[in-house]
Amino acid sequence: MSSAPQRYTVTAALPYANGPVHIGHLAGVYIPADIYARYLRAQQRDVKFVCGSDEHGVPITIRAQKEGVTPQQVVDKYNAIIRDSFQDFGISFDIYSRTSSKTHAEVASGFFRKLYEEGKFIEQTSQQYYDEKADQFLADRYIVGTCPNCGNENAYGDQCEKCGTSLSPTELINPRSMLSGNQPVLRETKHWYLPLDQYEPWLREWIVEGHKQDWKANVYGQCKSWIDQGLQPRAVTRDLDWGVPVPVEGAEGKVLYVWFDAPIGYISATKDLLPDTWETYWKDQGTKLVHFIGKDNIVFHCIIFPAMLKAHGDYILPDNVPANEFLNLEGDKISTSRNWAVWLHEYLQDFPGQADVLRYVLCANAPENKDNDFTWKDFQARNNNELVANLGNFVNRAVVLTHKFFEGKVPAAVGFTTEDEDVLRLLQEFPARIGELIDNYRFRDALNELMNLSRLGNKYLADMEPWKLIKTDAARTGTVLHVSLQLAASLVTLLEPFMPTAAARLGAMLNTEKGTWPQAGRPDLLAAGHQLAEAALLFTKIEDATVEAQVQKLLDTKKANELAAAVSAPAKDDVSFEQFQQMDLRIGTIVAAEKVAKTKKLLKLSVDLGFAEPRTIVSGIAEHFLPEALIGQQVQVLLNLAPREIKGIQSQGMLLMAENADGSLSLMQPSSPVRPGSGVA
Ligand code: 2FM
Ligand code: ZN
Repeated sequence: MSSAPQRYTVTAALPYANGPVHIGHLAGVYIPADIYARYLRAQQRDVKFVCGSDEHGVPITIRAQKEGVTPQQVVDKYNAIIRDSFQDFGISFDIYSRTSSKTHAEVASGFFRKLYEEGKFIEQTSQQYYDEKADQFLADRYIVGTCPNCGNENAYGDQCEKCGTSLSPTELINPRSMLSGNQPVLRETKHWYLPLDQYEPWLREWIVEGHKQDWKANVYGQCKSWIDQGLQPRAVTRDLDWGVPVPVEGAEGKVLYVWFDAPIGYISATKDLLPDTWETYWKDQGTKLVHFIGKDNIVFHCIIFPAMLKAHGDYILPDNVPANEFLNLEGDKISTSRNWAVWLHEYLQDFPGQADVLRYVLCANAPENKDNDFTWKDFQARNNNELVANLGNFVNRAVVLTHKFFEGKVPAAVGFTTEDEDVLRLLQEFPARIGELIDNYRFRDALNELMNLSRLGNKYLADMEPWKLIKTDAARTGTVLHVSLQLAASLVTLLEPFMPTAAARLGAMLNTEKGTWPQAGRPDLLAAGHQLAEAALLFTKIEDATVEAQVQKLLDTKKANELAAAVSAPAKDDVSFEQFQQMDLRIGTIVAAEKVAKTKKLLKLSVDLGFAEPRTIVSGIAEHFLPEALIGQQVQVLLNLAPREIKGIQSQGMLLMAENADGSLSLMQPSSPVRPGSGVA
């Protein structure tokens, strides 16, 4: 878009209403989108920021099946949870809609029908798996079987999650239906396809030639590679009973493919928001359309949806699609099924009132150009070293000293020194510099610039030392605080897109409102004599114990996952009761333990088994237990294992241990102490 846009339509990916939202969602999509929308509003631009729940498709029906409820119950539950999380984190949508809405059904059906009537689709029949018992065609995710690549017996019809190979259902060995467990049969079915191949020359011109400079390299690269590989017709309908019904004759039992209906959800959300004027935001060439998404959505937003819009003909195309890469958590891919995530609703239970801290950390560490890692240590360090020690400290010193020396009233400036003038000149450059970075979707850099403004303020205070200056020159001290408070007042506006709650609290402290973006750098935002409110801490230090508890929570999750994934070893051959009785199992108490010299694994134990002398048992557990920690512990012993010589020591029995899924060992102990030598039966 060459001339300045008249208005903006900003969309954020519609999250599937099949689970709560986590830090990956926030970092990848919703925080950058929200910063952008809030910034545009501060620039007094006409902007509509739209989103909603994606409530159709197989992700929903699978979740319903897992939870044993209806798809409607699933979307009702998660739509409410997701909507609340976004609100709690200050994501300032103008509307948060749902693709199950009546408006959406009308808009999506109308869109399909227009393309259908204008002959933009091709009709094709193909063979697809059908479950005769459940009496329905099976979506790829509803078929499991053996992966032809790695032998995993639970590979899905579209992908093997063990080896990562993408599959088609007919490649699976021994396919079975997840609905009935039966072997599905192939049946003919008709679907409508969008002939993406016909749009290839146009897409090449529009993206490969037209957006090489202004789209992010990760987005451009993925699009180019899709186009270079050659595009194929793409089915836009499915045999499913959950979704928007295909609005043409002969399509009974079929719905629109979720990736056909979901992006149209942006349009229907805008229509829900502005029933009379929505079209201006989607059809007028003066509108700039920007889609915020995660990298797994690039092909849908850059290739398929634009091809749909182009085929329709009435709509504008996205000006930019600033997709982010993925955020990992403590070195591991975020995963809903493995519960490897920091869920937004849980974060707020543990860190009440601290949504802005997470907004800050996720933006400062956003996966803008490559995958990034969230760690609790980094979260703590950024809070303590950056928010508390830099931003909070600057603002606090300026306000507290003004209260201390000038009764909380902005002191008058009595002649500026070169240092004052330098600071005020630099201040005036910040709004444009931060704004340009936001305009170019460089949110991390923009946030860093913002923090540079408070670094500037901190350095100025440290250089001027008003706390010392007051003893000799009250007028000069007043000037220093006057200058510092102008910086703080600018921060109210410049902070707002990134940390809206902190900005509001700072505004309350300074007894001022946020202003427009261009005004933010003015050196006279607070007049001399303006009364400040009480000082309050903007941010508080996060202690080691707090983040350690979060790390422990993740370690517990990891352990639970390992236990859940562990498959019990197959049962051994039967033994007779007589054979079992031949084993002399006892409880003993360890009375001495030491490492066996020159070995890594062996411990020499003396075990009291109720006989006159303790028995010596050599056990390979030295990597799991400290000798001194074993003394006094009761253990289970196989007493009549034939004696064996190990490293020159006669071992007279064997300790029995439970082996955990992660390979660690646990002692098998009676639930309360028993007399040494007690039998186990
Ligand atoms: O990946 C997802 O979570 C999808 N529900 C995103 C849809 S974005 C848009 F097309 F609606
Ligand atoms: Zn595999």
